[in-house]
Amino acid sequence: MRLTLFALATLIASTNAFIASITRHAESAECTLTASGSDDAPQFLNAVQTCDTVVIPASETLEIQTRLNMTGLSNKNFNLQGTIRFKPDIDYWSGNAFFIPFQTQVTFWLLGGENIVMNGGGTLDGAGQAWYDAFVSNSTLLRPITMTIFQAENVLIENIRMINSPEWHNLVNEGKNVVYSNITIHAESTSDNNPANTDGWNVYRSDNVIIKDSNIVNGDDCVAFKPNATNVVVSNLTCSGSQSLGQFAGMFDIVRNVSVVNIRMSNAKNGARIKAWAGRNVGSGIVQNVTFKDFIVDNVDNPIVIDQCYETDPDVCAEFPSNTFIQDIFFKNISGRASGSTVADLACSPDGRCSDINVNDLELSAGSGTATFECQNVELEGNSANLFPECTETGSN
Ligand SMILES: *[C@@H]1O[C@H](CO)[C@@H](O)[C@H](O)[C@H]1NC(C)=O
Ligand SMILES: *[C@@H]1O[C@H](CO)[C@@H](O)[C@H](O)[C@H]1NC(C)=O
Ligand SMILES: *[C@@H]1O[C@H](CO)[C@@H](O)[C@H](O)[C@H]1NC(C)=O
Ligand SMILES: *[C@@H]1O[C@H](CO)[C@@H](O)[C@H](O)[C@H]1NC(C)=O
Ligand SMILES: *[C@@H]1O[C@H](CO)[C@@H](O)[C@H](O)[C@H]1NC(C)=O
Ligand SMILES: *[C@@H]1O[C@H](CO)[C@@H](O)[C@H](O)[C@H]1NC(C)=O
Ligand SMILES: *[C@@H]1O[C@H](CO)[C@@H](O)[C@H](O)[C@H]1NC(C)=O
Ligand SMILES: *[C@@H]1O[C@H](CO)[C@@H](O)[C@H](O)[C@H]1NC(C)=O
Repeated sequence: MRLTLFALATLIASTNAFIASITRHAESAECTLTASGSDDAPQFLNAVQTCDTVVIPASETLEIQTRLNMTGLSNKNFNLQGTIRFKPDIDYWSGNAFFIPFQTQVTFWLLGGENIVMNGGGTLDGAGQAWYDAFVSNSTLLRPITMTIFQAENVLIENIRMINSPEWHNLVNEGKNVVYSNITIHAESTSDNNPANTDGWNVYRSDNVIIKDSNIVNGDDCVAFKPNATNVVVSNLTCSGSQSLGQFAGMFDIVRNVSVVNIRMSNAKNGARIKAWAGRNVGSGIVQNVTFKDFIVDNVDNPIVIDQCYETDPDVCAEFPSNTFIQDIFFKNISGRASGSTVADLACSPDGRCSDINVNDLELSAGSGTATFECQNVELEGNSANLFPECTETGSN
């Protein structure tokens, strides 16, 4: 643990150094945008090309009616005090949102390049209500991700509010040194149709990502680690969502060096969760060195989960265990109340696919019934291992 925390401090220190280096760039030109009354995308794109700093004053709501390709930028500041709203013109976006091959996603906005800062206290409004309603009658509708950090290095997004994304709020896709700090995310539907899949963040093929000091109210995962997310630190979040990790066929995926600390989670489906598919024709990979520490949960269905047979029938999982190996996992100081009786469920595939799984200082109570700690196919270590009767003595069963 001492090594982990020391390395964490180093990571944060090096990240602070790059933040300092990007904020030092002198601004040679600052441009202030005012709403045009029609599509503001052209003037926004133009300003980003020609100005170092783009200011959107608090009085202004820019309406984006066409897609924003802001790739390959260098040394740009977005001072967003007002609002950027993405018009929910479903017909337009259905043909024109940028396609992201991973998990068949689309996005309103690609933001990439190097040394990019966005702050100012303003709002990104995904205007998701029309999308939540349309999705109910068309489950193949592709709903855009609000903001995708795309092929970017040294990015700082701070003091920003994001509301009602049609789908994931943020995707970090091929990013390096990306920091989000003090972000407020709120997705809420005013109809009976849920704000489905409105994840806070997904991190994919990215290295050295920090997400901290933020509040998330949404209809899906708070932060999801997707293939090839390495050196990710998530700290001090309040979430009503879940952490998760996805796995897709035909890819080799690595998730390494992830720390999730100081998290408050309420009214959520899952708390600290690692999931991996099993069965025929799934991908392979490794999930290694993942720490979930200092969590307080309240009314969470599954506070602690490893599911290495995710969406896989148990017989099939026994025959074709997951090819994603799960190693060096730490659940530490996790307390609070589940919604039902299962407070922890660590289900590994057979054949030693999980190893060095550590459970320490678990203080979890049941919302109803007797608290149960379920477990299979893994030998647990740590001072809370005795809570898991099936896994304490013999390990694999
Ligand atoms: C975005 O713009 C860049 C630079 O003009 C271009 O190379 C790239 O193909 C565009 N991306 C998409 C997805 O249209
Ligand atoms: C559902 O959405 C898809 C993707 O946008 C679109 O191609 C299809 O036409 C829509 N179907 C209906 C019935 O509107
Ligand atoms: C956090 O961001 C909000 C805007 O969303 C801002 O009002 C607040 O001052 C920020 N907090 C800090 C500590 O900077
Ligand atoms: C945790 O995040 C909140 C914002 O959600 C902030 O007000 C608070 O200062 C942060 N705590 C620490 C210890 O940084
Ligand atoms: C993840 O990284 C490994 C090693 O570099 C690579 O072989 C694999 O194709 C990557 N997977 C994805 C989904 O990018
Ligand atoms: C994980 O962290 C260790 C220690 O900081 C480092 O040596 C290793 O390269 C990291 N792994 C990846 C995949 O970045
Ligand atoms: C585990 O990951 C954390 C970052 O999340 C890193 O600081 C630490 O050095 C890694 N430990 C090892 C042994 O690689
Ligand atoms: C356990 O986690 C809680 C919640 O984050 C924190 O307040 C407490 O200080 C932690 N306990 C220890 C011993 O670190």
